[in-house]
Amino acid sequence: MKLEKQSIGVFDSGVGGTTVLKEILSILPNENIFYYGDSKNSPYGQKSAEEIRELCYKILDFFIANECKAVVVACNTATAAALDSLKNRYSIPIIGVIDAGVKRALKVSSNNKINILATPFTVSSKAYITKFNKISKNISVTQEGCPEFCTMIETGWETHKDRYELLKNHIDNLSKKADTLILGCTHYPIIREDIEKYFSGKIVDPARETALELYSLLKLSDSLNTSDKKGRVDFFVSGNKERFKKIAEKFLGFEIKNIYSV
Ligand code: DGL
Repeated sequence: MKLEKQSIGVFDSGVGGTTVLKEILSILPNENIFYYGDSKNSPYGQKSAEEIRELCYKILDFFIANECKAVVVACNTATAAALDSLKNRYSIPIIGVIDAGVKRALKVSSNNKINILATPFTVSSKAYITKFNKISKNISVTQEGCPEFCTMIETGWETHKDRYELLKNHIDNLSKKADTLILGCTHYPIIREDIEKYFSGKIVDPARETALELYSLLKLSDSLNTSDKKGRVDFFVSGNKERFKKIAEKFLGFEIKNIYSV
C-alpha cells in the first residue's frame, strides 16, 4: 500500500481518545484512521506501568499488522507509562498528548501557575511536572488525581448522581491561584461543560495541539494523504461496543458505521 493511503492508529483505554480524534478529523479530514478503544481494560489510570505497557504493545502490534503509518497515543496515562518504550520498540512515528498539553498551557497561562486534573497514574508518574521542569523551574504545578471519572464517563456520566459533588471536591483540592487547568485525561473534555462550572480560569485540552503535531509529523515525513476524498474511520473496541458507540457518537456528532469488536 502507498504510505500516504495507510491509516493512522489512534488509541485510548476507551472513549476518551475520541476527544483527540475529533481534532484530528478537523485538521486531517482526508486521512484514514483506525481508532482502538480498549474499554475492556479500562481504567488504565489505576494499573501499574508494566500492565499499561503490555496493553499498549498489544494495540501497537494490531496497528502494525494493519500497516498503520503513524500512531497517536490519545491517552495521558498510556503516554506517561509507555510512550518512551513504544518509541524504542516500534519504528513508525508515535506521538503522545502530554507534550501538547504542556505547550498549550504555557501559551495560555499568564501567571505560570497551572492546575492539572488527571488519573492517579498520570499524577504519580509526575510526567507533566517533569516536562514543565525541563522548560523552567518557575512554573508551579498542582495536580489532582481523579480515580472515579474515567469509569463514570465510560458508563454514562449523566447517570451518576454524585458527579457534581465529586467534581467539586476534586477541583476544590486544586490551587486557587492557578489561572489555567489542564484536562490531563482525554476523557475529561467530554465533561468539559461541567468542569467549567467549578473552574473559572482557562482550560487546556491537549487535543488540538496533538492533532497539529501529527499534521507536522506527516508533512515532514511526506506521508500526508493528498486525496481529496474524505478519509475512512474504523473503530475497534475491546469492551461493550454499543456503550462505546453511544457515548462516542454524542461527542463526535456523527453516526459511527464501521465499528468492530477486538
Ligand atoms: N483517557 C485516559 C487518559 O488520558 C485514560 C483513562 C483511564 O483509563 O484511566 O489518561
